Amino acid sequence: MNRKKEILFFIGLLLLPKHNIDAQSVLQNITHRNKITLNGKWHYIVDRYETGYYDYRYMPHDERENPGNDAFFMNAKPADKSGRIEYDFDLSPTMYVPGDWNSQQEKLFYYEGTVWYKKSFDYTKKNPGNRVFINFGAVNYRADVYLNGKKLGIHEGGFTPFYFEITSLIKPSDNFLIVKVDNTRKKDAVPTLNTDWWNYGGITRDVDIVETAPVFISDYCIQLKEENKNIIKGFAQLNGNETDKQEISVSIPDLKLNKNFITDNKGYVSFEFSVKGISYWSPENPKLYDVILKYGETTLKDKIGFRTITVNGTEILLNNKPVFLRGVCIHEENPYDGRRANCREDAYLLLNWAKELGCNFVRLAHYPHNEYMVQLADEMGIMVWEENPVYWTVSFDNELTYKSAETQLKELISRDKNRASVIIWSMANETPPTEARLNFLTRLANTARQLDDTRLISAALETDNQEGTLSVDDPFANHVDIISFNEYVGWYDGLPEKCKEIEWEIEQNKPVIISEFGGGALQGFHADSLTRWSEEYQEDIYVKNLAMLERIPQLRGMSPWILADFRSPRRLLPVIQDGWNRKGLISEKGYKKKAYYILQAYYEENKLK
Ligand code: GCU
Repeated sequence: MNRKKEILFFIGLLLLPKHNIDAQSVLQNITHRNKITLNGKWHYIVDRYETGYYDYRYMPHDERENPGNDAFFMNAKPADKSGRIEYDFDLSPTMYVPGDWNSQQEKLFYYEGTVWYKKSFDYTKKNPGNRVFINFGAVNYRADVYLNGKKLGIHEGGFTPFYFEITSLIKPSDNFLIVKVDNTRKKDAVPTLNTDWWNYGGITRDVDIVETAPVFISDYCIQLKEENKNIIKGFAQLNGNETDKQEISVSIPDLKLNKNFITDNKGYVSFEFSVKGISYWSPENPKLYDVILKYGETTLKDKIGFRTITVNGTEILLNNKPVFLRGVCIHEENPYDGRRANCREDAYLLLNWAKELGCNFVRLAHYPHNEYMVQLADEMGIMVWEENPVYWTVSFDNELTYKSAETQLKELISRDKNRASVIIWSMANETPPTEARLNFLTRLANTARQLDDTRLISAALETDNQEGTLSVDDPFANHVDIISFNEYVGWYDGLPEKCKEIEWEIEQNKPVIISEFGGGALQGFHADSLTRWSEEYQEDIYVKNLAMLERIPQLRGMSPWILADFRSPRRLLPVIQDGWNRKGLISEKGYKKKAYYILQAYYEENKLK
């Protein structure tokens, strides 16, 4: 890094919000932990001028020794009839958590800025010596979190979980949890200012209070060792006053396995053990095993599938057998309500549509989706591409932007490392191929491989189209396991007829996935196949693209854009778009378009590929 960049780098680090380090990354397996939910109605205050955060000299209240009652996170009330307090959460309206504010409040549909949330609750510990944590499934985009007037910390990134310990702050009654949520888009954030999806703000996923023993298993990874399908490898991490020689046990009853391990002086132990008779996870056989981890008096159960995913030349191998990924892209949105998907029922709606389509694979675009999606994909036997929101023109030359992208990637990998359905970590989508971007993405890919060497790395790469000859000239192609790219021949690139002219020159000896193709159609609008926006035009795009893609020798999968119409502030054509991206195979009312049946038939014909 040259001198100037070094200086900028260190200045940047000095500017990091001082609480940024408080947000610990991921408490593994929230689903099966001892918890109570804080989901439900929360009071909220829309604070466009952040009056509750800055004083009139624009100094943050929470950087003062005594923040004073003007700070919203103090949840203050007038001491007597003369008292002056200019906010009151309990008199303010409520909205549901989990949930974006855009779809819950008409006046917040386009809102970008700060909204304060408040939840009051009582809490009695099951055991006085236990520890207590607050866990957020995700908050978009920045969360400043306070409990009983004390700042717990900050989290940035709209799609990954985070938690804080509250053992010393929680009381038996009258706790007040206050979260300042700010979804303002920022140039140096991840994603950056321009995205082709709705900037849903809010506490968009579950909030739980988790109680644990004083020392407990906070993280673990248990998976098949890639090189040998009869060896399970992994690690377990204790959290608490780790001392030497703590015993942890891992059992898998269906495999008649029960192993004991001794941790090191940091409460960590890595392990490997041989197993026999594993029924390997696959779309045809989505076998999940009960895995029970024990430490002291506490047990923690998970459901884990065991499989390997590798590449060999141009083949993608699932459990050492070639597989063709019959996929579709999905945004995290319940189209019926035009809102962020946030529960198991939403996940089932989306993945069942994919299953009906004939998919064995989904690309969860363009950011980590909620945990229900990957848990259900495990159960339904659907392989998953998960993606870090390094989308389009993020600030590749900004070290703080890189740190944010890296933190979000680490949180994603940490959360989903035990999910058999997740087979691909995608570093980015359609990013401009500069030197800074190559360095940025290569660092991310290296980080991903250090954290998890059992899954494949990809990204939607850039292509070169020289007079109808399509190649992948993206230097990041050297750093991925699977060559993926988006192509829109027939929509952004010529008319569907153009598909016939395309020659492929993909030199890389790697598997190829087409991570996007397609076009828009207003469901119910019928005309000839050259009339843009008609279902017939979209149908013709699919017919001609599928024939064109068959000419790629290394083709090993595809995820057309996109399962369902979705909200986008960039799609403004009256009557046709009206704020919706119309490339869905299914409309926002759940009606299938003609192109849906073209793809469904293609997957049916090729399901034995
Ligand atoms: C791009 C991008 C998508 C976008 C789509 C479109 O390839 O990856 O996020 O929505 O094309 O233009 O509809």
